[in-house]
Amino acid sequence: MTAVGIDAIEIWTGKLTLNLPETFAPVKGEDPAKYTKGLGLETSSFPDVYEDIVTMGANAAKRLMDRRGLTPDDIGRIDVATESAFDNSKPVSTYIAGCLEQTYEGDFRHANKGERKFACVAGTQSIDDAYNWIKAGRNRGRAALVIATDTALYARGDPGEATQGAGAVAMLIDEEPSVVELSTEQGYGSMDETDFLKPNQQFPSVDGKRSMQVYLARMREALEDYESVAGRTKVEDFEYIPFHTPFPGMVRKAGLLGYRHMIRDTEKEDELADRIGRQPREADFDSWDDYEEAIRAYMDDLKETDEYREWYGRVIDPTLSLARRVGNWYTGSVHVARTSALKHAYETGKAMTGKQLLVGSYGSGAQAEIHAETVREGWRDEIEALNVDEQLAGRYDLDFEEYEQVHDAHNHEKDVELEEFTQPANEFVFTGWGRMNERKYEYVE
Ligand code: COA
Repeated sequence: MTAVGIDAIEIWTGKLTLNLPETFAPVKGEDPAKYTKGLGLETSSFPDVYEDIVTMGANAAKRLMDRRGLTPDDIGRIDVATESAFDNSKPVSTYIAGCLEQTYEGDFRHANKGERKFACVAGTQSIDDAYNWIKAGRNRGRAALVIATDTALYARGDPGEATQGAGAVAMLIDEEPSVVELSTEQGYGSMDETDFLKPNQQFPSVDGKRSMQVYLARMREALEDYESVAGRTKVEDFEYIPFHTPFPGMVRKAGLLGYRHMIRDTEKEDELADRIGRQPREADFDSWDDYEEAIRAYMDDLKETDEYREWYGRVIDPTLSLARRVGNWYTGSVHVARTSALKHAYETGKAMTGKQLLVGSYGSGAQAEIHAETVREGWRDEIEALNVDEQLAGRYDLDFEEYEQVHDAHNHEKDVELEEFTQPANEFVFTGWGRMNERKYEYVE
């Protein structure tokens, strides 16, 4: 059977950055450690005034196409995943295709274009759509371009303001991929939930604490559902486990839950039993509350064990290095986590070909999805070609007043004139509105 998966990845960060412990926390009267230790964040990315979901997505896609020597004729599908769309009818993929057509010979008239919506899980769903299209033999030898692009901005004063971010991840989905092959097996945990939504409004309504509980509950169901088709997962099976990362502190909780699940009824659980006891079993308790309390106590002990800490440091922590510096990219976030993991493997000289990743995606509203990926031989060249460190180092560091100005400039309800902070070069930029209120873009040399 032909392998299908991710053949190439490119990342495009917003050009501005906000330092959370040093610039944001002091103005909010908060301890910087809430950001660095609690949420696990150092800086977040923001779009300059000429950037938006289209420019970031098109710029990531152009880098990918140029690097791989692709033309529009090589692409049969452009799927954009976003929760930051500005149009309820015309999809962002048409704007991105329009941008790309300004700079390539040929066009994307033959390409099927769409836009996927299910909060942050939509990026992974777009990869699924591309995978299914290729597996069904409908691709006519062409690859799919999947672009996850978001400006994750919250209303000022909302607790979510701490976890903002902006950027795009472009991925080429193709046969015989260079980076990872996707497993056919998938698990889902999906339920009608009211944790985070944007009912025709730009900034989300969020029940932050509830969204964290829902993330964990749906992720657990997705893992059980995945195991029902792929068999039991074990901690030693996976080199890295990239999760959707709204902020690294969320993944700390998901990692602990996953570890507890994977070691249950294994030698590892027996090994730890001398020190922290065996995991509480529901059948041994008269009430759910007593059971939950016992689980909480067990988890508190588990996270202090050397075994857990070693596993977390090796398998989970490396997936968070980019998220710490960019914040939440919504649909792109789990794909940033996969990239961080492979980047870590590259930088530490790890052999990865044939190794497994377990990937946990999540979208509020709510749905979690879990699948496995097998790393392919070309992964190293793909990761080596990324310039994300240069992009991050080149960001303009906003002071608090500038941050508020940029936030206002991107607020659809406000009409703010603001000079750009950075100079665009060799990239697509937003230039204003057309006669039907469409957004206009240009490529600047
Ligand atoms: N030192 C160390 N840790 C600290 C700290 C300090 N001085 N101050 C706070 N913390 C810890 C808290 O204990 C908490 O960690 P815990 O959850 O492990 O207990 C963490 O930092 C965050 O602090 P908290 O007071 O809970 O933050 P908050 O009320 O401002 O809200 C969110 C945090 C995530 C709920 C909020 O940013 C949000 O709504 N984000 C958007 C929604 C989201 O991302 N949901 C996730 C699922 S998709």
